[in-house]
Amino acid sequence: MIGMIFIYLIFEARGCMVCHSEVRKEYSEGVHYKERIECISCHGGNENTLDIKKAHADGFKGIPGRRKVIKVCTYCHSSPEKMKPYGLSFDQEILYYTSEHGEAFKKGNDEVAVCTDCHGVHRILPHNDPLSLTNKMSLPLMCGKCHSDFNMMKKYGISSDVVLEYNLSIHAEEVRKGNPHSPTCVGCHSTHGAVPPGIGDIEKVCGKCHIRTREYFLRSYHSKVWKELDYLECEGCHSNHYVEKTSHDLWKQKCIECHERESKSYKIAEEIYTLFITCENEILRAEKLTEELRKIPVDVEDFIGRIEEAKTYLIEAEPVSHSISVEEVKSFIAKSKSIAEEVQREAIRKKKLFESKRILLPIFWFLIFFTIALIIYYRR
Ligand code: HEC
Ligand code: HEC
Ligand code: HEC
Ligand code: HEC
Ligand code: HEC
Ligand code: HEC
Ligand code: HEC
Ligand code: HEC
Ligand code: HEC
Repeated sequence: MIGMIFIYLIFEARGCMVCHSEVRKEYSEGVHYKERIECISCHGGNENTLDIKKAHADGFKGIPGRRKVIKVCTYCHSSPEKMKPYGLSFDQEILYYTSEHGEAFKKGNDEVAVCTDCHGVHRILPHNDPLSLTNKMSLPLMCGKCHSDFNMMKKYGISSDVVLEYNLSIHAEEVRKGNPHSPTCVGCHSTHGAVPPGIGDIEKVCGKCHIRTREYFLRSYHSKVWKELDYLECEGCHSNHYVEKTSHDLWKQKCIECHERESKSYKIAEEIYTLFITCENEILRAEKLTEELRKIPVDVEDFIGRIEEAKTYLIEAEPVSHSISVEEVKSFIAKSKSIAEEVQREAIRKKKLFESKRILLPIFWFLIFFTIALIIYYRR
């Protein structure tokens, strides 16, 4: 039986796999095995023999050291002819050498990530496979192999808390909930071009997804003066890795970090804060009244629809507020507030109508019975 397998494997020209059964097991789970890429593509040697000396000859390269790995992978992955049939891009090498990793590698640094650190060696899987090292869910852990290593990062003056901070962010929370639009590491640093975005790029990186927010931020006075001051655009108010869910309180907490309480700028912050809060309160009152009516029960479908509309305008005011223009925020808030107030007025009117009915109805019935009683009395 075992002999049969040997013969089979040799006829299949897979002599290496007979002796290296552990590697074979790993390798057979990966994407390259499926495409019948042979061990010798990366290692050289002769597959058609079970003689170790002969096998480890014919241009046998042994273990490619870190310095050689990129050449090994890009022999195929930088070749348009080899990659085109699979619809795979062939720009990984070019991108890699533009990255902070690639640049350091060129200068002789052996600690930075090379292809196999991120993809694995023998069991390489496409990133949409849940078991892949480069799967969205695994990325923070994978990058964290080095970026959470305090001693390694200290040497480069880089923070080793990036993964920890990211894991606490709203972005990570959304990824865990399965939101496909929320970024992990490569969503902001790009896949092979791991470069930290600098001043002038951050708003573009964040704005790729937060399109409207960026549009209004670019209208703000900040976007004009911050570049010259080396302030970090979106990051200045939201951080880069530990991005939290926002609230209107940010107008009080953030602006005070740079503007005096007495300044004109802080007054503007307070004004915008007040606009948001009063509008939110009007919507809350409208909701409370609607809820009271619903319990009576009175049909409130129309009110619920209009409250949703009011909320939409309020939510739209949030990206708009990045222009830090009171007038612009007001124009959205005004729509929201007037709908909420209208709902309140109508709800109060309906409630009064119902209450007056409740008082009048017994009187009405009383009068009817009284008249009937009178008629009966006089008939007698
Ligand atoms: C007859 C069994 C046998 C065959 C066939 C065989 N190997 Fe090996 N190989 C070994 C053994 C045993 C070692 C560990 C001893 C050593 O380092 O020389 C080894 C070591 C290696 C190493 C590590 C070398 C190093 O520098 O430590 C690589 C890589 C390797 N083999 C690849 C291959 C490839 C590729 C093939 C097919 C072309 C192949 N082997 C065929 C038995 C075999
Ligand atoms: C896509 C390229 C590629 C292919 C295909 C490949 N290897 Fe490797 N292999 C590597 C690289 C790169 C390393 C070095 C890993 C490292 O530096 O840790 C390596 C390491 C090894 C080693 C030594 C370390 C270890 O993991 O035991 C052996 C033995 C080995 N390969 C055998 C094989 C055999 C047998 C096959 C075919 C089943 C194979 N390789 C297919 C790239 C490849
Ligand atoms: C002999 C050519 C060859 C070599 C050498 C090679 N690859 Fe591949 N690789 C391929 C082919 C062909 C595919 C396409 C498989 C498919 O899409 O079905 C592939 C697929 C991949 C994928 C999955 C792409 C995807 O998302 O579908 C990754 C990742 C990958 N290779 C990384 C590497 C790394 C890392 C190395 C070096 C250790 C390497 N490859 C060496 C030919 C090669
Ligand atoms: C710092 C980690 C890292 C390094 C280094 C790296 N990759 Fe990738 N690679 C990824 C991630 C993550 C993906 C998944 C794509 C995504 O999520 O956008 C990927 C995707 C791929 C793909 C699938 C097609 C594509 O471009 O999206 C191939 C092929 C690939 N890498 C090959 C390579 C090769 C070859 C090297 C070495 C020159 C390399 N990678 C170096 C992290 C890395
Ligand atoms: C094998 C270890 C290793 C892995 C894995 C790794 N990195 Fe790195 N990375 C480094 C080292 C070391 C540096 C420092 C290079 C230097 O500054 O010379 C670095 C630098 C960086 C930088 C530049 C930081 C700066 O301010 O200079 C970014 C951004 C980065 N890596 C992102 C990533 C991402 C994203 C991943 C995962 C997709 C990743 N890295 C995976 C080792 C790694
Ligand atoms: C929402 C976007 C975003 C995500 C997600 C993100 N980063 Fe960053 N990262 C940035 C920005 C922006 C900077 C630039 C910081 C600066 O210049 O102050 C940065 C800087 C870095 C640096 C350099 C830190 C230093 O101290 O110089 C590293 C390393 C890094 N990121 C790695 C990662 C890793 C690993 C992940 C995944 C766990 C990740 N980043 C996720 C936006 C992001
Ligand atoms: C790949 C797309 C993407 C990138 C890049 C991105 N984000 Fe996000 N962001 C999302 C998604 C998706 C959510 C969660 C859904 C939502 O609330 O919009 C989110 C949520 C947020 C929130 C919380 C919103 C709330 O409702 O309170 C803030 C603040 C935020 N991101 C800021 C940033 C900053 C700052 C950057 C750049 C450093 C950035 N984002 C980069 C997609 C992205
Ligand atoms: C990281 C520091 C920083 C933060 C945080 C910050 N600002 Fe500013 N802001 C500046 C600088 C610097 C200027 C330009 C110099 C100046 O006018 O004080 C400026 C200018 C302004 C101006 C324009 C003043 C004018 O003369 O026209 C307004 C309005 C403003 N900020 C409002 C805000 C609000 C509202 C917030 C909170 C959401 C905020 N700022 C947060 C640094 C900051
Ligand atoms: C000067 C401080 C400041 C800067 C700079 C800033 N934001 Fe905001 N951001 C805020 C405040 C304050 C809120 C809360 C608004 C509210 O709900 O009242 C907010 C809310 C948000 C939200 C949730 C609401 C929405 O807009 O969808 C996102 C997402 C967001 N910011 C992303 C960004 C992005 C992306 C950038 C850069 C283009 C940026 N922010 C720049 C202060 C800032």
